[in-house]
Parts: sequence; structure tokens; C-alpha cells
Amino acid sequence: MQSPQLDHSLGWEDGSILAVDQRVLPHEHCLLRLSTVDQLLEAIGTLAIRGAPAIGLAAALGVALSAHRNSAGGIVDDAAVRADAARLSAVRPTAVNLAWGVRRAAARLDDGPGAVLAEALAMLDEDAAANAATAQRGADFVESLIPHGPLRLLTHCNTGRLATAAVGTALGAIVALHGRGRVSEVLVGETRPLLQGARLTAWELGEADVPYRLCVDSAAAAAMARGMVDCVLVGADRIAANGDVANKIGTYGLAVSAAHHGIPFVVVAPRSTWDEELADGSQIVIEERDATEVTSLAGIGVAPARAAVHNPAFDVTPAELVTAVVSEHRIFRPRSSQADLTSPVAP
Ligand code: MRU
Repeated sequence: MQSPQLDHSLGWEDGSILAVDQRVLPHEHCLLRLSTVDQLLEAIGTLAIRGAPAIGLAAALGVALSAHRNSAGGIVDDAAVRADAARLSAVRPTAVNLAWGVRRAAARLDDGPGAVLAEALAMLDEDAAANAATAQRGADFVESLIPHGPLRLLTHCNTGRLATAAVGTALGAIVALHGRGRVSEVLVGETRPLLQGARLTAWELGEADVPYRLCVDSAAAAAMARGMVDCVLVGADRIAANGDVANKIGTYGLAVSAAHHGIPFVVVAPRSTWDEELADGSQIVIEERDATEVTSLAGIGVAPARAAVHNPAFDVTPAELVTAVVSEHRIFRPRSSQADLTSPVAP
């Protein structure tokens, strides 16, 4: 591990993948140098690298890494790389970006390891461009719903630059709104069990000088009831064709509460998170994670040793609870008669 030198959460240097280790933030800032696919699988599986766009990009770099290690004289050992690609696709099941990243990079295998790496690096640039467009569109959309006054926003999990190649999705929109002088406060759900909100989003908002308060996840509904929230902004891990949205566990509850209180619920996510092959969210595989994430907190046991645990990492919010999904190519409004709008903002 080294001190961070990356502008973004991911990069490539001298035949290795560089990644910010998100497990140890905010107290330690470490850069991982991953030189084998096994190391990358461990990093994604333990959430050192996390967030749907970031794991898709990391997986694409992983295919490049495998092609780099399994080639001689520019000729790639196709079978070895495809075996690694299959392992990368399967390491986390919910975010569609993972299989998308692997598929795109692997499609260049016939052109040699350099071409695979060039594709993965192009995907990083594309995600950065998508972030920039989506953040502005998301901010425009929120301003179109709530044109005046200070905004009290609520967000969940981490959708910022750690989770993407650049400024992030929902958090990118929040930072853009802050840049326009509109944000009075962001309520950040801590995001049990792994505390992506407390550890990562709070840190990113602090770095960007955006005013925020952290709350336990179970305080969100009451905050909405007390009139403390004007709009909920979240990201996504997989979006079905009808607009059903898989995202971090707890998102569905926020959407139910927002609908009950008449609060806009806006999802900000890149095109790569849409899974048009799924008609709706019922087929989305929800990752179930280790029981110890729930029975302990920061390594300290908080439950009886043999407690049985239900630990889904994600849930699915039905489209009818979603005000809009804002992407770089469109704004999808499941509840509107004009369901699919092209924003006036250039993509
Ligand atoms: O388990 P994680 O931390 O990878 O979950 C991440 C989320 O649920 C994010 O909200 C989602 O991936 C969008 S990131 C732009």
C-alpha cells in the first residue's frame, strides 16, 4: 500500500490496477496496487473497490490485467483470460455494470492485450464524461421540480467519486447543486451494515464543503415526516427496462417514505446501469453478504455469537415510487404521461 496519488478512484500503472482502498476510509487513505486477478477479486468482494460504475470499470481493467499476464508476443491465451473474465463477472451479482465492463473489455481480446487495455481506459473516460453530464442533468432536474429556496436533500450509500470514475452520480448532482448555491443541508444515512454513508459520503461531502448531517438509517422516515427533506437523491446498481431500481439495502424504504410524504425520489445513474434485457426488477439477483457484517460493528461483536442473520446488500424499488431516473442520455419518468423525456441539457 502507498499514499494516494490518483485523481480518481481507479487507474492503471505499469501493468497493475491502482485503486483507492475504500475499506479503510476515512481514517486511512491508501492506494492498492493490484497485479493479479485474484487480488482484484478480493478487492471487489471485500468492497475495497465498490459502487456499481467503479466495479464495472475495475472488472474491465481486470480483463486487461489478465490479458497482459496471459499473453506472449502479443498473442493472448484466450481460454485463460475468458476464465478470469467469468470469475470477475460473478464476484458480485447485483450491479449490471460488472458483467458490462467484462463483456466490453473481453470483446477486444482478438486485437491483443494493448487493445483490451485501451478499451478499459476508454471506459474510464466515458464514465467520467457520463458523470459530468448526469450530475448537471440531475441538478437541473431537481431545480425544475423545486425552483426556489434552500434545498434539504437526503442521500443513501455512496454515489460519489469513490464509486465512479469522476464526480459521481447522485452525489455529483448534489455537489453541482451546492455549486449553484442551492443546498442548505444534506442528510446522509449511515448505510448499515458497512457504513458507506458514514465513512465515504460524509467524507466526500466534507471534502467538497457541502453542509451535511449524518443520521442512522432509521431516522430518515421521521426526518421526512418532520418536513426536513425536500428531495431524496440516490444511485443505482441495476435498472430494469420499466424503471424498477436495485440499489443499496434501505433504498426501498426511503422511496416508500418519500412517496408517503409527497417528496420527490430521484435516481441518478449512468446508461451502463440500465439492464434493458430485464422487463422489470423481479429477476434481479440480490447479493446476500456475510452474517458477520451484521453481527459486528467495526470488528466488535454486537449480537449473540450464533444469531441467525438476513443480510441482503440491495433491494428493489418499484418504478411507481420513482419520480425520475436521470441518466446521461435521458430522463425517465415512470409515473409521468411523458415517460421518457430528453432533457434540455446537452448530453
Ligand atoms: O455495496 P456497494 O457499496 O457497492 O453498493 C453501492 C450502491 O448501492 C450505490 O448506491 C450504487 O452502486 C451506485 S454508485 C454510483
